Amino acid sequence: DIVGACFTLVREITLTHTYLYMYTYTHHSFFYRNTSLCACDKCLMEYDPWLSELMEASPEPFLSVTNYMSEDIFNWWKRIQRDKRNYTFYNKTVDKIFHIFPPNVGFTRPSPDLCRTCAVVGNSGNLMGSFYGPLIDFHDIVIRMNRGPTKGFERDVGTKTTHHVMYPHSSTNLDNTTYLVLFPFKTYDLEWLIQSFTQRYVLCKVNTSVMILSPAFMKYVHHVWLKRKGKYPSTGFMTLILSLHMCDEVSVFGFGADRNRNWNHYYEKLKVKRLRTGHHAGNEEYKLIEELYKKEKILFFRGW
Ligand SMILES: *[C@@H]1O[C@H](CO)[C@@H](O)[C@H](O)[C@H]1NC(C)=O
Ligand SMILES: *[C@@H]1O[C@H](CO)[C@@H](O)[C@H](O)[C@H]1NC(C)=O
Ligand SMILES: *[C@@H]1O[C@H](CO)[C@@H](O)[C@H](O)[C@H]1NC(C)=O
Ligand SMILES: *[C@@H]1O[C@H](CO)[C@@H](O)[C@H](O)[C@H]1NC(C)=O
Ligand SMILES: *[C@@H]1O[C@H](CO)[C@@H](O)[C@H](O)[C@H]1NC(C)=O
Repeated sequence: DIVGACFTLVREITLTHTYLYMYTYTHHSFFYRNTSLCACDKCLMEYDPWLSELMEASPEPFLSVTNYMSEDIFNWWKRIQRDKRNYTFYNKTVDKIFHIFPPNVGFTRPSPDLCRTCAVVGNSGNLMGSFYGPLIDFHDIVIRMNRGPTKGFERDVGTKTTHHVMYPHSSTNLDNTTYLVLFPFKTYDLEWLIQSFTQRYVLCKVNTSVMILSPAFMKYVHHVWLKRKGKYPSTGFMTLILSLHMCDEVSVFGFGADRNRNWNHYYEKLKVKRLRTGHHAGNEEYKLIEELYKKEKILFFRGW
């Protein structure tokens, strides 16, 4: 009895003063009003017709008890990775998750008194030799993704990770100060979350909070930002768009090619010499990142 076992574990974990939070997110329209400015010198959400229009079309980014996925979205979502599971099964799996990870507010709302600075750290080889470590760690929120290690690369990528974006195949152990941000691409990924919790792999040992990206947000990024180009958006691009919702100031590191136009990871020896973005609309995504940079919505550190 998976759920029963999890309840027991939750109780144990709670008793040992560790906490599991489910990130909840409401009233996102809050972001776009002129009154919701921040305490930074410059706030991301200062009115701009282009960005405001894109942001206003956003659904709530995270799944929660009050933000289930509609069947419509499910039908889009199940096509991206040929999921065989049906909507009823998905629904039941999500129900289980919300039983295991009790809903809890772990969200800093935008406020005129707050300046929420974020570093979004991709895995590009352009981080090698960049000496960005201290600069990255200086941000309140540091979001890393997939395998993205810090150990052994501290000088260039820093040490702090407040949020780690993963899907099951890219998972890595997290320490107890890092939020797990799951990007589910199929129902199985949600089952994986339950299993990894019950089987004491990733989540059991830690007070990691779990946030689950809503498939509706994935569809929004694909349709509204990328105008349906590519099969679905890359993890890096979705993370960047997500950060626009969590931060007042966004600095982007480790995206794009290195100075020799190679695309590789900072933690691996060069394998792929030319641009290859698979199912994803790499060029389109990169153009949008440059556009955000040109409009001074984000800071963009290329490493060269
Ligand atoms: C924000 O302010 C700008 C100019 O000051 C105005 O044009 C725009 O309509 C306002 N937006 C909202 C959502 O109030
Ligand atoms: C959905 O899938 C489950 C098991 O995977 C099956 O038992 C159920 O009949 C299916 N429901 C529908 C409406 O197809
Ligand atoms: C799935 O869950 C939602 C939200 O609880 C509910 O409105 C919907 O009817 C459910 N659908 C199915 C097929 O279980
Ligand atoms: C978090 O991990 C550190 C190092 O492993 C440990 O010392 C600390 O007690 C942990 N905190 C909680 C709340 O579990
Ligand atoms: C983990 O526990 C420590 C110590 O209680 C706390 O300071 C920290 O905020 C917790 N982390 C999360 C992600 O909840």
